[in-house]
Order: sequence, then C-alpha cells, then structure tokens
Amino acid sequence: MSEKKGAVVTIDGPSGSGKSTISRMLAARLHYTYLDTGAMYRAVGLKVRQAGIDLDNPADRPRLVKLLAELDLQLALAARAGEETRVFLDGEEISAAIRTAEMGLVASRVSAEPVVRQKLTEMQRQFGLQGGVVAEGRDTGTVVFPQAAYKFYLDASPEERARRRWEQLREKGQEMDRQEILAQIEKRDRDDSSRALAPLSAAPDAIIIDSSVLSVEAVVEVMLARMAPA
Ligand code: DC
Repeated sequence: MSEKKGAVVTIDGPSGSGKSTISRMLAARLHYTYLDTGAMYRAVGLKVRQAGIDLDNPADRPRLVKLLAELDLQLALAARAGEETRVFLDGEEISAAIRTAEMGLVASRVSAEPVVRQKLTEMQRQFGLQGGVVAEGRDTGTVVFPQAAYKFYLDASPEERARRRWEQLREKGQEMDRQEILAQIEKRDRDDSSRALAPLSAAPDAIIIDSSVLSVEAVVEVMLARMAPA
C-alpha cells in the first residue's frame, strides 16, 4: 500500500449499511483521517432548524444562503482511533444532538438543496487535500472525490439495516419501534436515491460490498485486501 500512502478512500452507501463503523475502523487501520460527511449535513440541518428556516418557502432562500456563508462548523478528530467525530457548531458541541433518527431525516432534507451541497462539497474537498483520508457519505466517490484511489459502496438489506439502527439507538438510550425505523430507512433511501443532485449511487469504479451477512471486521479485511498491491 506504500505507493498509495496519503490516498483518499471513499465509502458510500445507504444508512445502516455499517458505513460509519467500518469507515472509522478502516481509517484507524490505515492511520488515515476519518471524514464523516453525514455529520456535516446533520449539522447544517440542525442550524437550519435552529434558525427556523422553511426550506419550502422561497422567501427564506436568502436566509439559507446567509447561514451557509457564515457557517461555523468544525470537525474534531476523535481522541481515540475508531471513535465518532466530534462536531462543533458556532463553537458548541453538537455531536450527540445531531445523531438522532429525527436529525437524519432533517439532514436528508437539507442535503437535497444545491447551495448546501455546494458548500459542504467544497469543505470536504478542502479536507481531502491533506490526503490520507477515509471519506464516508452518499456521494464521496461520485461527486466529492471522483479521483479517489479506492472507492467502496456498502449495501445491506433494509431489514438488516433497520435492525442495526435500532440497536445503535438503543445503545444511546433511544428506544424506538423497529417498524418505524424500517419505514424511516426506506423513506430516506427513496429520498437520497431519487434526488436530482448527487443522488446516492455507486460510482462505476466502486467496489460493491454487501455487508448483510459479513461482520464489520470481515468487511474491513475485504477492503484492505482490495487495497493491497497485487
Ligand atoms: O450518513 P448519515 O446518516 O449521517 O447522513 C445523513 C443524511 O445526510 C443522509 O440521509 C443524506 C445526507 N448526506 C448526503 O446527502 N451526502 C453525504 N455525502 C452524506 C450525507
């Protein structure tokens, strides 16, 4: 892997496909930096909500543009390898506040806005300049880093993804109905895949991995094997 040191690796896929855990583990194994692009969309979603901006109201457009121009969003690298990225908005930590099922839906809504995508794509590319990055999201291999050295697309059945999300939320003390999570996942899949701009899709040169029946460790090993020089 030495000739690829400092490469950009992208991992895209639907929610609950194991992307976050796998991306964090892969970044730790490679000693790369982990870029959680979903957290950025969630943070903008929170800010839009705090500001009371109605995305369906054309009169609120200028406020959205201003909000993005003044966006003070910082990602702090996890203190320990494999941990979640800490996120700060206007200097305040919002790491826990953005990682709820509801904020996932809000993030999905703001992520369909071209001005939001443009702003965050720019920030993500800036982040990628340093190299040695594992970027995780929906469009990191297709739009943000089309030249990435390695691209992966993770998938899993909706039922398995709902089960995982339910467990994750439960660990965080959020009890939710599993059917409701499945419905949310299916809605988010539909919205993320059908939007006009940067829809969720595998890049033509992405390696597709179905994680339904693989452990996270096994997926990481498959990825490392695909990155190893022949
Ligand atoms: O990965 P996540 O669940 O934290 O992402 C939240 C939402 O953000 C997701 O439903 C779609 C959007 N998103 C996106 O449009 N593009 C990305 N690169 C990452 C996330």
